[in-house]
Amino acid sequence: MAIIGVGMSALVADLIRYGYTSLDVVDVSPAALGRLNEQLVGAADRVRSVCADVRDVRFDGPIDVWHDRATLHFLTSAEDQAAYAARAADAVRPGGYIVLATFSERGPRHCSGLPVTRHDLTSLRTLFAGAFEMVEAFERDHHTPWGAAQAFTHVVLQRTRARPPRSRASGAL
Ligand SMILES: C[S@@+](CC[C@H](N)C(=O)[O-])C[C@H]1O[C@@H](n2cnc3c(N)ncnc32)[C@H](O)[C@@H]1O
Repeated sequence: MAIIGVGMSALVADLIRYGYTSLDVVDVSPAALGRLNEQLVGAADRVRSVCADVRDVRFDGPIDVWHDRATLHFLTSAEDQAAYAARAADAVRPGGYIVLATFSERGPRHCSGLPVTRHDLTSLRTLFAGAFEMVEAFERDHHTPWGAAQAFTHVVLQRTRARPPRSRASGAL
């Protein structure tokens, strides 16, 4: 499993408690990865820190689950969003999943002082079309520690499996 734009997410410690033994945590910020690692004392053998831009990230092998909460929306050009989708399509194994939460059309226009892209279900389906099929989708507000409500679009997408070649018996040429 890969956690993209992991920041200081408590999800990592939770997954380790649930028994996950192989996690790739990805962030463009070495400071964020450093702080996260300080919190994971004793679990270093289960977590591989990858300091990279999501558009360029590489893994040792195919990824079962690509998790991203609140990273995709920092990519604000169509080219960068497409590069994200292409990287995910390359990294996730056929039949594997993306679990994604990103600001919805009702969500904030900025995050951490930076402009963001907002998505509804249709724009996410379009972004990942061809390589992923949407298996679950909903919109829900996230309540921040400082009491604000942020509208998120949540989707689960499944990597399409390669189609087997059609046999001669089926009449294909
Ligand atoms: C709003 S935080 C979300 C952190 C965590 N996912 C959570 O839900 O608590 C976004 C994180 O994405 C990282 N990030 C932003 N742009 C990125 C990029 N292009 N590639 C990788 N990480 C990125 C930031 O450094 C930050 O840690």
